[in-house]
Amino acid sequence: MTDLADSRDIVKAVLSQIFQLSHFSGEFLGERKTVLLGSAFASLVNSEISRMTKEHDRFDGIPTMVTPRELRLLANLFSTVPIDGPVLEIGCYLGGSTGAIARGLEMAQAANRLYVLDSFMWQDPGFVKVLGRDIDHLRRNENLSDAAVEATRGGDWHLAFHEIHKSRPYYDRLEVCRALIPYKTADTFDLLKYVPNGTKFGAVFVDGFKSWESTYSGMKALVPFVRPGTLLIFQDFSWCTCYWLPLLISSLGCHLLMKVDNTAVFVVGSESRMVNGIEKFGQSPNFDNYLIYRDILTNYARSMFHSGDDVGFLLHTAQSYVLAHTFGEAEEARKLFGFIEQLCDRLGVDWLIPKLSATSFQVHQ
Ligand SMILES: C[S@@+](CC[C@H](N)C(=O)[O-])C[C@H]1O[C@@H](n2cnc3c(N)ncnc32)[C@H](O)[C@@H]1O
Repeated sequence: MTDLADSRDIVKAVLSQIFQLSHFSGEFLGERKTVLLGSAFASLVNSEISRMTKEHDRFDGIPTMVTPRELRLLANLFSTVPIDGPVLEIGCYLGGSTGAIARGLEMAQAANRLYVLDSFMWQDPGFVKVLGRDIDHLRRNENLSDAAVEATRGGDWHLAFHEIHKSRPYYDRLEVCRALIPYKTADTFDLLKYVPNGTKFGAVFVDGFKSWESTYSGMKALVPFVRPGTLLIFQDFSWCTCYWLPLLISSLGCHLLMKVDNTAVFVVGSESRMVNGIEKFGQSPNFDNYLIYRDILTNYARSMFHSGDDVGFLLHTAQSYVLAHTFGEAEEARKLFGFIEQLCDRLGVDWLIPKLSATSFQVHQ
């Protein structure tokens, strides 16, 4: 009889094989592949990771903005698939996702370094309130110094991040980089200040491209540090307001491997396609391209529909609504909103309409 550890190894071996097949064929099971593979990685039997994702909104006790399924996808992916090169995370907050990636690497007994890049500072009053609540919760179980707690009251969690992760077994593999990627203008961002020249990342997890401009600056900085085969993992890929991420991926021509909730895993193709793709994406939205952008988002929505990802279909449709609204296409936005209301009703989704209604759009005419 096979014991649990053996069966876990078998599941890992099977997943690794499916991953390789999917990686090379590109056509494995057609569009359903992405959802099947994502769900498989998110549900791989792994008692240690299941324990760490038991509490909703926390990983290993660390408050996180990423869903439990997304965290399991990360941990299981990094523990199962050999990653050739260091790993980069952009946008870690208190490090729930950092923990998931690092635990995965630990389980694989892999030596990869993990670069973690964040501004570690945001003084928006609403955010400082959330940070304060999360730090108060953390202090019940973690030893945080008075200095670290005091800094978070002003929106700075750099010291707290170090103190949270210092006690964890993966701390020595972390390279913590405090950096702000230009957010409102597409200015140059120099990754060489943080990462040695010649580095080629095996995987990059992005949860910090929160505007078109920072996506352009961050991605342009990143292109010399990736190579064909690098995994590009975007947390906000389907998120309703982040319509620029599918547009970016479409310009880069990266192949979609798997997806769970809003997290999608892509593989980098040719280097020249990356270099040209980032310029095609551009420093800011091109308002003459509305119809092109709309068609790209519609195609992503359609492919989510065909893959059986109903909520993905809804969210990419919501991205089209945000695009229409932002680009001043009021009539189209109105029609899309009506369609989204009907879809939400049919799917029993009650959180999207309040979210869209509360979003303030900067409308370009
Ligand atoms: C949604 S949170 C990340 C959540 C995290 N992955 C987790 O597991 O909870 C986004 C993070 O991106 C960072 N960020 C956003 N824009 C950034 C920028 N332009 N440069 C650097 N960091 C940025 C924020 O400081 C924040 O920590």
